[in-house]
This record gives sequence, C-alpha cells and structure tokens, in this order.
Amino acid sequence: MEVVVHKTYEEMSRAAAHLVADVLNTKPNAVLGMATGSTPLGLYQVLVRMHREEGLDFSQVTTFNLDEYVGLGPKHEQSYHHFMHDNFFKHVNIAPSNIYIPSGTTSNYRAFCEWYEQRIKQCGGIDVQILGIGSDGHIAFNEPGSSLSSRTRLKTLARSTIEDNSRFFKHADEVPIYAITMGVGTILEARTLVLLGCGANKASAVAAMIEGPVTAMITASALQLHPSSMVFLDETAASNLKMRDYYDWVLKMKPGAPQV
Ligand code: F6R
Repeated sequence: MEVVVHKTYEEMSRAAAHLVADVLNTKPNAVLGMATGSTPLGLYQVLVRMHREEGLDFSQVTTFNLDEYVGLGPKHEQSYHHFMHDNFFKHVNIAPSNIYIPSGTTSNYRAFCEWYEQRIKQCGGIDVQILGIGSDGHIAFNEPGSSLSSRTRLKTLARSTIEDNSRFFKHADEVPIYAITMGVGTILEARTLVLLGCGANKASAVAAMIEGPVTAMITASALQLHPSSMVFLDETAASNLKMRDYYDWVLKMKPGAPQV
C-alpha cells in the first residue's frame, strides 16, 4: 500500500486526477470505478478541466459506480445517478451507454446485483477504482461487519453513515436506510485501488485502515490485501498515522523522485 500525504485537499485531488489521466493516456478504453460523496468532488473538477483544456478523452471509457441509495430514482437530487451526471458525466465526452450505476429502484435487487457483477467482468474488469472512506472505515457502503469477500448486494446502512450523510438531505429521516453496493470482494478485483481521504473526521478510520489489522470491522483495511493500492490523504486525514515519517521517506526516496 502506498500512502501519500498531500498538503491540501486541492493537491490531493490534482494528484488523483493525474493518475487517472495517465491511465487514460496509455489505455483510452480503460474501465474506471467511480465513487460519490464530498471527497472525490475535487478530483472530478480537475478531470473536467483536463478534458476542456487539455483534451483528456473519455469517449472510449466505461465507468462503474460503487453504490446507490435504494428508493431514489435517477432524477432524485440526492441519488448518486444525479450526483455523477451533475458533477462529472455531463461535463465530459463519455458515451451514456458506457455508464453503469447501480439501480436504486429495480424490482429485483438480487438479479440486478448479479447482472452488475457480470457486466463488470464482461467489460474486462475495473482498471482503477476510486474510493472514499466513511468515518466508520467503510469503503463503498460496506459497513463494519461486511464480509471481506462480499459481492454487489443490498446493504443496510449504519446509523453513523445515515447521520454523516444527512448533511446532504433536508431532514435526517429522508436519508435512505438501504443501498446497493459493490462488495469488498468486488472492489478487491480492480487492478488498482486509489482511496482518497480528507478531513479530521476521517483521521481515526484512516489510521485503522492503514496501520491496524485487516478486519471486517474496518472494511477499508482490505486494501492491505491488494497488490496495487494507493491512499492519497490531506494533512488532516493523516494526522493519526504513527508511521507518517516513513511514508514521507518512501516517497522522497522513490526511484525517479527529485532529491532536494
Ligand atoms: C460513495 C461511497 C462512500 C463514500 C464515503 C465517504 O460512493 O462509496 O463510501 O466514499 O462514505 O463519503 P464522503 O466523501 O462524503 O465523506
């Protein structure tokens, strides 16, 4: 696991965007795994700017989103369909037929989840999966206790997640209780994982994910099992890391890194 601490949220977002752009420049038909929430907003803004100003091309890209609230249709302002279109898809040249987001309104969730898993495989698997982290250590909506082998499925949100996400809704009781989410096992099959973490409220979850044991109680800790995982943090999210000096040293001594 590579841990990179950036001075600011903006710097972290730019670094993540450059990583995605590098992938698209070598593999224009890459499959990207997308996350929602506050954390990746800066990344999406930089990618949109790169598309507009530098011609970063999404015409052959396919995307799979991590999750969607159950009960919210694509037009609902707080649905992840709406979030993705509003913050990213409508600003770049991605083909609508290449966009996959779990359905929050399917009449058969089990069949939908199986289909979603198959579509990921049929599209060649996910090249780069973008992730955020919940204050309870979740990735996607794999709440504490989720199996580290779990697949795409219906999941009950933790009370703390409902509370965290109530900031996006008018009233806390409007936050859906269920979501469809890729499983931890699904996420671990992506070729590269890039988890972004920002803000002091993530500091303890981030430290547990990186420096604690691999445990279903912090599903983000499953990144320790992945051969190619990167964690990009801002200073506040990194503030509880005990090995901080070492992560900075590794970065400084990375072959090809400028020595100052
Ligand atoms: C959203 C997702 C969630 C969020 C996490 C952090 O697609 O998968 O795991 O990444 O809840 O959310 P923010 O970024 O809003 O703090």
